[in-house]
Amino acid sequence: ANERTELKAKIKRLLKEQNAVLVAHYYTDPDLQDLADETGGCVSDSLEMARFGKAHAAQTLVVCGVRFMGETAKILSPEKRILMPDLEATCSLDLGCPADEFAAFCDAHPDREVVVYANTSAAVKARADWMVTSSIGLKIVEHLHAQGKKILWAPDKHLGHYIQQKTGADMLLWQAACVVHDEFKANELLALKDKHPLAKVLVHPESPDSVLQMADVVGSTTQIIKAAQELDALEFIVATDNGILHKMRQAAPGKVFIEAPTAGNGATCKSCAHCPWMAMNGLRNLARTLETGSNEVFVDPAIGQQAVRCIDRMLDFAV
Ligand code: 13P
Ligand code: SF4
Repeated sequence: ANERTELKAKIKRLLKEQNAVLVAHYYTDPDLQDLADETGGCVSDSLEMARFGKAHAAQTLVVCGVRFMGETAKILSPEKRILMPDLEATCSLDLGCPADEFAAFCDAHPDREVVVYANTSAAVKARADWMVTSSIGLKIVEHLHAQGKKILWAPDKHLGHYIQQKTGADMLLWQAACVVHDEFKANELLALKDKHPLAKVLVHPESPDSVLQMADVVGSTTQIIKAAQELDALEFIVATDNGILHKMRQAAPGKVFIEAPTAGNGATCKSCAHCPWMAMNGLRNLARTLETGSNEVFVDPAIGQQAVRCIDRMLDFAV
């Protein structure tokens, strides 16, 4: 506890000295989320993290999350210094969509509007017409479908399928998945619901279709936290990374949050519902990064200039 307190104090001092601001995702260590809150930073979903980083006056952003979040910040603000506690923190969706294979896929379907999820590399975004996050993907595809556009979607197959079902759009789907959300199990969820008949089920759309079908609310991390606050229920079953429970409990004190089952035997398993790459962010490497200025995020400027267009398009659509 002492080391934690010391590290937190040190991080606060370094942030001030360097005029730096923390931007953290809900799946990161609760200590990092609290630090971001306490120091005027931001704790949020991918869309709000991007928006906050772009709008903030600080010249140094420290992004606690995974690589694509740091890259998005850099693409939106090439003049800023973007640091991350660990540059190796990636995402199975990003890994599952190599830029060269993705380019070949796009080349094979030139008649389609290319829509990519935020969880991709800068090079993949450079090839896209639109970038979307989980909070706005549905609305953007609805808009494109209304214009009669056919869509090429990458990389998350579950989110793509969900949006396709909801909008009826013609979507060709890349077949990658999130290692965390892909593990949620419908049968076990059904059994858990039986034990908690009054509980509402909150699900992130990277989960399999069978799980999504049992949801009371499907949404981005921010959207399901909001639902937990607003819905008239006292118990919730949550199908997303369990890092979110910290914020949910703060946002809706007195309500009970239960992790959705991931293992085949119906038991919840801690490591299954927690992203191994988000877990690479901690107090120690955050302090070290601020101290040494190491782990700066760089994006090839030519790729960045291409990639920024699809991100700005989403941000303009969102306002
Ligand atoms: P959100 O945009 O909903 O925060 O999702 C990001 C993510 O990586 C979910 O696994
Ligand atoms: Fe990627 Fe899944 Fe981790 Fe989110 S939880 S960063 S989608 S691997």
